[in-house]
Amino acid sequence: MRKLILELCSLEDTAAVASTMANQLFPGSILLLWGNMGAGKTTFTKSLCAGLGILPEIVTSPTYTLVNNYPGRWPVFHVDLYRLTAPEQLDDFDREDLLCDEGVTIVEWPEFLANYLSDEAVLNLGFETVAEHQRRLCLESESAEFDTLFKTLEQQNSSLQKTINS
Ligand SMILES: Nc1ncnc2c1ncn2[C@@H]1O[C@H](COP(=O)(O)OP(=O)(O)OP(=O)(O)O)[C@@H](O)[C@H]1O
Ligand SMILES: [Mg+2]
Repeated sequence: MRKLILELCSLEDTAAVASTMANQLFPGSILLLWGNMGAGKTTFTKSLCAGLGILPEIVTSPTYTLVNNYPGRWPVFHVDLYRLTAPEQLDDFDREDLLCDEGVTIVEWPEFLANYLSDEAVLNLGFETVAEHQRRLCLESESAEFDTLFKTLEQQNSSLQKTINS
């Protein structure tokens, strides 16, 4: 299990980390974005999508539609399950409606998606509000497919880094 904690002291830090991360993603990447309201999940998603060649203006939280699909370097599914109150509310969705094997899947409020995941390449991103403009981002993954992403983030963001446990 790889783990990395980054202190995002400004919107610029958040955008820079998202941009670095975008370059390390690959088709089949699944990013689960955890954290309370206003913690920065959608903000991070916008910068990540910009790095994947998607206009940030078209990136809006799909709170009511549950899934947005953006065309970019690869297709990106942006899922937001905030509105759900039980996992059965996803029963009408097929796996292919929620997870994009040919591209990148980004999920806000992913609690109820667990049933759909088995051995996929999953990267967990936990966002925590520290101060008005400061967020703590905790990255965790058990998938070796993200090893290069972790190494790159460690190298390029050493000034933001708090703790590393390999
Ligand atoms: N360093 C930072 N990183 C990310 N967002 C920040 C930062 N500093 C301030 N913010 C602000 O915090 C807010 C984060 O809102 P955002 O919609 O991204 O949160 P969210 O986690 O998606 O919330 P929700 O669960 O309601 O969808 C934005 O207004 C953003 O400008
Ligand atoms: Mg959001």
